[in-house]
Amino acid sequence: MSNLNRLVIGISGGIAAYKIPQLIRLLKVNGVETKIVLTPSAFPLVGEDALRTVSANQVYRDGLVNYDMDHIRLAEWGQKLLVCPATANTIAKIAHGIADNLLTTLALSFRESQIIVAPAMNTVMWESRATQENICTLKRRGIIVLPVGFGKLACDVTGAGRMLEPEEIVSYVLASSKSDETLKGKRVLISSGPTEEPIDPVRVLTNKSSGKMGVALAREALIKGAEVTVVSGPSNAVFPSSVCVRKVTTAQQMHDVLHEEFANADVCIMAAAVSDYRVVNYSESKIKRNESGSITLELCPNPDIAATLGAIKGTRILVGFALESSNDESLALAKLEKKGCDFIVFNRADKALGLDSTSIVILGRNGFRKAIDCTDKSVAAQAVLECVVSKPGR
Ligand code: C5P
Repeated sequence: MSNLNRLVIGISGGIAAYKIPQLIRLLKVNGVETKIVLTPSAFPLVGEDALRTVSANQVYRDGLVNYDMDHIRLAEWGQKLLVCPATANTIAKIAHGIADNLLTTLALSFRESQIIVAPAMNTVMWESRATQENICTLKRRGIIVLPVGFGKLACDVTGAGRMLEPEEIVSYVLASSKSDETLKGKRVLISSGPTEEPIDPVRVLTNKSSGKMGVALAREALIKGAEVTVVSGPSNAVFPSSVCVRKVTTAQQMHDVLHEEFANADVCIMAAAVSDYRVVNYSESKIKRNESGSITLELCPNPDIAATLGAIKGTRILVGFALESSNDESLALAKLEKKGCDFIVFNRADKALGLDSTSIVILGRNGFRKAIDCTDKSVAAQAVLECVVSKPGR
């Protein structure tokens, strides 16, 4: 059930602005009242009268006399701000906190978790590094960025950059406003990122992991009403501010902190890429280059944290991840058993590492299997948490 009733739509100057009256009508059918804000370059592209008529509200734009601080009043009124279409220029301004018109000022007046952006632009502009970096900035801060469509654009080019169709935007907006509270009162513990094992004061053994899956899992658990604690290895991942983040470096530290937190947890999701080995003899001084040949590092195994938690889990739900370089799901099933997990999320290194998207297969007890191909990590995280809630196969 979506609990969205009041939405502010900010229209910036993309040709797709002509689709907004249709979007407003669809939202109205779904019980959402809208107020519209136009940037100066959107103004000539879409009929103000049409917007006023379908929204049944005044249309807001720069240049109108305003004694009532519209940006603050609109941010108080709206539960969310949908920037749609969002041009490269408006996206850049929001990413950099520039507030030079009513819409961008409004974007600063909403909390980042309340903002949804539906980009629309020419393919080269969409793919430019400047735009992609700005998109990453928005996502990192918790702003929802909808995907762009692929197809023929107004500029006659065929490629990525089309604004999604109004029907698709409505379903994303309603889905992002769902608060199902299915994990209300539950404590969800998530391990995230890599671990680092020191070799000497300047060198470490580590695994590739961006922490993006950990962030997506934390967000989805919050949406479901859980209290979320993340034990994170060294990474640049930014977690929502209501998550309790405990930073660690080595696998042993991650083991110790997870065991401490596990005592109070109802669910534990092991998304971290834990280093399986550490060096036996840490060198207090930097190891010198050996010009005459190779050197040997002796490694010993780290504790298998998931397995040690699996051994004491009781009624808690334990989810592991199995990142493999092949398609052989039996490797993941063996880990499900060995680690005593309730579910194991099988994914391929080449389809997941460092990316915003992933392809996963969730494997559970009694033959449970759910595959999700090429999807955003937030959608994958949603599927994992839905398994935690409904416990299929248990
Ligand atoms: O055996 P493998 O490393 O592939 O297992 C992956 C799963 O086990 C992940 O959930 C990971 O977080 C967890 N793990 C662990 N302790 C280790 C190695 C992996 O908890 N030492």
